[in-house]
Amino acid sequence: MAGRIEVGILGATGMVGQQFISQLRNHPWFTLTWLAASERSEGRKYVEAAPWRLEASPPDGLGSRLVQAAVPGRGPRLVFSALDAGVAGEIEEAFAAAGHLVVSNARNHRLDATVPLLVPEVNADHLALAASQRAAKGWGGAIVTNPNCSTVVLSMALAPLRPFGLRSCIVTTMQAVSGAGYPGVPSFDILGNAIPFISGEEEKIEIETRKILGTLAGGRVEMHAVAVSAHTNRVPVLDGHTETVSVALGQPIEAADLRAAFEAFRGAPQELGLPSAPPHPIVYLDQPNRPQPRFDAMRDGGMTVSVGRLRPCPVLGWKFVTLGHNTIRGAAGAAVLNAELIVSRGWMD
Ligand SMILES: NC(=O)c1ccc[n+]([C@@H]2O[C@H](COP(=O)([O-])OP(=O)(O)OC[C@H]3O[C@@H](n4cnc5c(N)ncnc54)[C@H](OP(=O)(O)O)[C@@H]3O)[C@@H](O)[C@H]2O)c1
Repeated sequence: MAGRIEVGILGATGMVGQQFISQLRNHPWFTLTWLAASERSEGRKYVEAAPWRLEASPPDGLGSRLVQAAVPGRGPRLVFSALDAGVAGEIEEAFAAAGHLVVSNARNHRLDATVPLLVPEVNADHLALAASQRAAKGWGGAIVTNPNCSTVVLSMALAPLRPFGLRSCIVTTMQAVSGAGYPGVPSFDILGNAIPFISGEEEKIEIETRKILGTLAGGRVEMHAVAVSAHTNRVPVLDGHTETVSVALGQPIEAADLRAAFEAFRGAPQELGLPSAPPHPIVYLDQPNRPQPRFDAMRDGGMTVSVGRLRPCPVLGWKFVTLGHNTIRGAAGAAVLNAELIVSRGWMD
């Protein structure tokens, strides 16, 4: 790296915004110089606009920094977006038009034909879409997205199975309350309870997974043919989405080969030695009662996806459990890894 790169956060006061601040603390390439949020927070000290809600303590001096207005042209060229989806669409476009590289968590642009939807271990080559996006829109900047939090976990667990002819998948999620932002689900609704509905979540998992696993050809992504059926549930867990998965593969295979595929799985972040890359993107756990959010969500700083309980499924062929940290691997950590990939590919030169 020739020098440090200034970065900003749109939506810095939310759950994911705070996780961004945490991920960027002591980052070897990025210096966080700009915090932006809504008119509600603009001009206020961070500590007044957004009480700190993460277990890890906030960076020194954060509380006294002033929250800025989310106005394009202000702030650094590289901005992370943790904006509420209700406003992210237009704001992110305005920033990209003004020359910013917007690395977004929001759902708004994930399925746009020219917007990369990245999990760098799975589809780093899809970043090339951003060039056609700039040409098509005439923007000086670009928008690059990471998937929905449960989709990141699922697509990482499915990626090593692609060579075996991945045909169909049924996934049932048990999703943490931090996935609903702050204040999120009322405690009266979720304590001692499970809620079998998360608005729009099943549709996102079913389509985003196919784009991520898809193939880039002729300047567009050909969706993967896998059929995905998702059931989503909110459960009284703070952090970490657990997912039970059944898959049908196109060829007979032994459990040992599947397990070896999970364990051997690596991608561009590991090859490039990106700072946020976990050494092993997927860790297979032998204990029959793992993975569990309390013990496994924070593996390698929350960037590793855990897999366990691989066994035959009488309906589809194979089944297993997977788990990942929803606001780190599923949101802020994923976006920081995307930004590291962008920088390593020379987009900030
Ligand atoms: N939580 C997760 O696990 C997760 C995972 C993946 C993706 N995501 C996505 O990431 C985004 C953020 O999620 P979250 O859970 O952090 O939500 P959140 O806690 O509700 O935070 C939303 C942020 O957006 C800001 N905002 C709202 N309206 C704005 C406006 N008009 N102009 C500028 N800023 C505005 C808010 O600022 P104020 O505080 O000033 O209102 C706040 O900083 C969402 O799009 C969400 O779907 C979340």
